[in-house]
Amino acid sequence: MTGPLFKWFGSKWLSSKTLPKPEYETIIEPFAGGAGYSLRYASHKVTLCETDPHLKVLWRWLIAGATEDEIRQIPINVPEGTDIRSLGLSKGAETLLKTWQRTNNVGDCWTISPWGNKPGQWTANTRARVAAEFGEVAHWCLSESGGLDLLSSKREATWFIDPPYQYNYQYRSLPVDYTRLAALVRDNAGQRVVCEALCAKTSARPTWLPFADFGSRITSRRKPENNHHSRELIWVSP
Ligand SMILES: C[S@@+](CC[C@H](N)C(=O)[O-])C[C@H]1O[C@@H](n2cnc3c(N)ncnc32)[C@H](O)[C@@H]1O
Repeated sequence: MTGPLFKWFGSKWLSSKTLPKPEYETIIEPFAGGAGYSLRYASHKVTLCETDPHLKVLWRWLIAGATEDEIRQIPINVPEGTDIRSLGLSKGAETLLKTWQRTNNVGDCWTISPWGNKPGQWTANTRARVAAEFGEVAHWCLSESGGLDLLSSKREATWFIDPPYQYNYQYRSLPVDYTRLAALVRDNAGQRVVCEALCAKTSARPTWLPFADFGSRITSRRKPENNHHSRELIWVSP
């Protein structure tokens, strides 16, 4: 895989280059999002869990429904403001096009954005790459349980755990019980890699695990001098 299959707020596609490599053939992401970590190791046995309704549709389709031809037929250069649902695409194809419009596309906005056709978004290159590469996830599994339930099933695996950050953006999900999450992470088997970040506004530090600093990451690109940075934290099982 040479890039993410879709854009998602908090994607670990770039930082996965420097995150610990998986020690197990099985990788489980209980808070999948765009699964930027697993995409780097797409040939592994990957199980994802995600509660966002759009992402569930998208992952199900990418894993088991999409064809290369269907992706190649998703139009490019659609005029700004067009409602993607008016294009006559399948639900999966609509959702793929939706995710390439904006980095924070968690809500129900279905319009082509002002920058949706710009480099790095849904261009001929992106479309060709996604069409050529999505087949690498055909053997992946999408779990129907919630992330914490999945974590309760102790398994010898690489667990890549990237929940909504305690003091930052919570997506549209129900609040995460971080105390329970910490207990499940500690009690689990295998390799566990957990991501968090300092509060963007107050620099408050989450303490549900003894996190170590893991550098600073650009979360949204504005003007070159005005990028948003996230101060990342990590906990890795001993
Ligand atoms: C920080 S993002 C993950 C980003 C991901 N690592 C990537 O590379 O794109 C956290 C994800 O957890 C999802 N989520 C929130 N609560 C959840 C739950 N209880 N079970 C599963 N997923 C959940 C959110 O919808 C969001 O997509």
